[in-house]
Amino acid sequence: MIKVLAACLLVAFVATSALAVTGGNPKKGKYLYKKNCKSCHTEGVEGGNLTPLSKTMAQWDRFFERDKHAAKPEAFEGISEKDLLDIQQFLYDHAADGPQPQTCG
Ligand code: HEC
Repeated sequence: MIKVLAACLLVAFVATSALAVTGGNPKKGKYLYKKNCKSCHTEGVEGGNLTPLSKTMAQWDRFFERDKHAAKPEAFEGISEKDLLDIQQFLYDHAADGPQPQTCG
């Protein structure tokens, strides 16, 4: 009995931590992504089409932690750290190898 309980707790823990790696709010992130990123990241516009599926979870983390939109740094300026974390969480959760891959951004 104790063993079963421990296994369940472990599964629950792994499932929640997989969804909360960066600690942002993915629902807000989706909204913020549409508001702050979609204007440039659409087919035919300068940033090109970009969706959560464009990268893997590790690639998104690297992008937000190291690259920080080096191609156009001003795109990240004016967005608060907290909002960027929410956007990162949304992209991460729906990454190509993420827990809930999706294309709509
Ligand atoms: C003012 C326009 C603009 C805005 C706003 C913008 N971007 Fe970009 N983004 C670009 C351009 C231009 C590039 C370079 C595209 C290229 O190299 O072909 C780029 C590149 C990127 C890349 C790299 C693409 C790759 O293939 O590796 C990512 C990821 C990215 N942007 C994410 C974002 C996110 C997330 C936001 C919102 C917080 C955002 N961008 C907002 C214009 C923009």
